[in-house]
Amino acid sequence: MKYFIANWKMYLTRAEALELASTVVSSNILNDASVVLCPSFLHLEAVDGIIAHSQAILGAQDVYFESVGAFTSAISVQQLKELAVSYVLVGHSERRKYFGETDELINKKIKALLPSGMQPVVCIGETAIEHSEGKTHERVDKQIQAVLQGLQSSHIIIAYEPIWAIGTGVTLSIDDVTEVHGYIKKKVKEYSGAECEVLYGGSITPENIKEFWSAQNVDGVLVGGSSTQKDKLSALLSLISN
Ligand code: PGA
Repeated sequence: MKYFIANWKMYLTRAEALELASTVVSSNILNDASVVLCPSFLHLEAVDGIIAHSQAILGAQDVYFESVGAFTSAISVQQLKELAVSYVLVGHSERRKYFGETDELINKKIKALLPSGMQPVVCIGETAIEHSEGKTHERVDKQIQAVLQGLQSSHIIIAYEPIWAIGTGVTLSIDDVTEVHGYIKKKVKEYSGAECEVLYGGSITPENIKEFWSAQNVDGVLVGGSSTQKDKLSALLSLISN
């Protein structure tokens, strides 16, 4: 089983999100690929209305860990569950960078999600400076240890997204992706005792998806920009189905 997760960011209008969802429904998706669509919270219900009887699956871009209380504008696990969400991104680098999210907060979100049956997809990755200083292992090791604190035997999906590769058109080489993913799998096993899938994210396009999709240790992809354009989305889905 491989995962194709589309992170539709926040700027799509409702009409655009619905058009993309229709594109996915009319695409030929292989049975062994899980195609997860993560629209903004506002469009979850409408997108679900389009994909409900298809193979596509609903995902959310974030969640808050508290279930009750005064946390204005936050979205709870229960609210996502009501909307038939199955996968939830946590710790996306944009949440970390622009909203100050820490590994400790991400750990709380994972702990809140797991009992609900929704699958957390935990984003990790190093900065450009860490990459150039050869500190990728050190960085992802710290993140994995912190986000998995107290989570023995839990099934987690990791999205490895080098921060410098997100939305930049630059990607990590396939050999490096295979190597880093192998390292992440080993570390997750060490800290949680469980096997995990590792997806690659950062500037996936129709030009490069096939290489990443078939690379060793790559259990799928997390796609932002290219998944928000109808033609590219359709091309991406057809490329992973051939
Ligand atoms: P990108 O974004 O595919 O545009 O680099 C990745 C992401 O949204 O995580």
